[in-house]
Amino acid sequence: MTKPHKPQSNAMLKRAHENMPLGVADSYRYWGEENTVFLSSMKGCTITDCDQQTFVDFRLAYGPIILGYRDERVDNEVINAITSVGTISGFSTGLDSDVVELVKSLCPNIDKMRFANSGTEAVIGAVRTARGFTKRNKIVVVEGGFHGLHDEVMWKSDVDNWEVTDENAPEIIPFGAGIPQSTREHQVSVPLNDFKAIDTVFAEHGHDIAAILIEPIMGNCGSIASTQAYMQKLRDACDTNGSLLIMDEVKTGFRVAKGGAQALYGIYADLTTYAKAMGNGYPIAAFGGKANVMDAISFAKDGVTHGGTYTANMVALSAAKATLTVLKETDALETIATVGQKIQALLSRVFTKFDIEHCFAGPDAMFGVHFGSEVPQNYRDWKKTNSDLYTQFALNLIDNGVMLEPDSREPWFICEAHQTVDLKWLEQVAEQSMSAAINAQ
Ligand SMILES: Cc1ncc(COP(=O)(O)O)c(C=O)c1O
Repeated sequence: MTKPHKPQSNAMLKRAHENMPLGVADSYRYWGEENTVFLSSMKGCTITDCDQQTFVDFRLAYGPIILGYRDERVDNEVINAITSVGTISGFSTGLDSDVVELVKSLCPNIDKMRFANSGTEAVIGAVRTARGFTKRNKIVVVEGGFHGLHDEVMWKSDVDNWEVTDENAPEIIPFGAGIPQSTREHQVSVPLNDFKAIDTVFAEHGHDIAAILIEPIMGNCGSIASTQAYMQKLRDACDTNGSLLIMDEVKTGFRVAKGGAQALYGIYADLTTYAKAMGNGYPIAAFGGKANVMDAISFAKDGVTHGGTYTANMVALSAAKATLTVLKETDALETIATVGQKIQALLSRVFTKFDIEHCFAGPDAMFGVHFGSEVPQNYRDWKKTNSDLYTQFALNLIDNGVMLEPDSREPWFICEAHQTVDLKWLEQVAEQSMSAAINAQ
């Protein structure tokens, strides 16, 4: 397989090195001196780099694109809002309630909501509200979960430097420098789907646990999902202990079902965070939940503070209104699920052809691909999969015009525009990419 030359991309990176650390605006966009991607345009389910290579994109900016890039149903509403109303004023408009009411019509877990500009900010708001409501401090998080880039949740289970044969749990380490040890003081980590760990944590800390914070389907860990019974266990543990269940649906919300992961489980959170698919790529986020919990946000002496200059700006809200309206009124999510199933089926044919044990995790709209015989049940299980083979396969796909994160912890994201993909072509490319990956081993 020949690697395409990227003279323009390389020149752009060289220039960007003078302007930004690592030459990128977000550290995760740095893929090395030869592979860092610079785009010239995006449309539908494709992205085109500045060397004129076009990719069918299954990375979709880590999940926000649910309809397709530059979807006119959304873009026209945004243009209309900012040209006929404005962007921000520091005051309210009727659009605030328009969007909340749309969310409420899709998500029975939401009585009241507040907006934010990123998933990170939504999680900060939800956690603060949970603490303010319960008057407790501790947050239980799940190994392999990701909740954004704020210090308190920037602690991870170091599975990369851990062996499945190790008797001890993987070490919990900070994402990097600058994160004070004190930010871990009020956080306890448990492995997903481990019932005993929940009992132990509540036995030890129950009186001070404000909330369990969980991605029901871990969108940053190969879509490894909570089992139905485990989700019920969490709901019951919270109810028994006066703690809140926060579901971080930044990736799953308005993607895996109109009502998000909670609609799939039929188990509902006290507080939920949303972002990504809510605005088809525009920077909208929100957190919300039961009215009595959300009403902890108040000017009372013991009330929770929430706000922000750009909160509920017209760009974000008009995009959210348009996107949610399409998702509510059309069968876009059914289309996405059908395409996702077809893509898993073709990948499965390719892997079977090469005798590769494989399984898929999570829903069709954001499925994880794992090379192993059993669907991982938690992050430690993921270590048993052949993630090196996956990475090589993914890098070959990228060289051949299929974009995805070369790491099996990031799922394949499907958008409505993927219905136009030539699946025969995709199967051929997958076959060539796997053949080359095996030869490279
Ligand atoms: C589940 C989850 N929560 C929170 C975040 C943080 O969102 P943002 O990058 O918009 O701050 C992410 C980002 O990928 C996420 O996947």
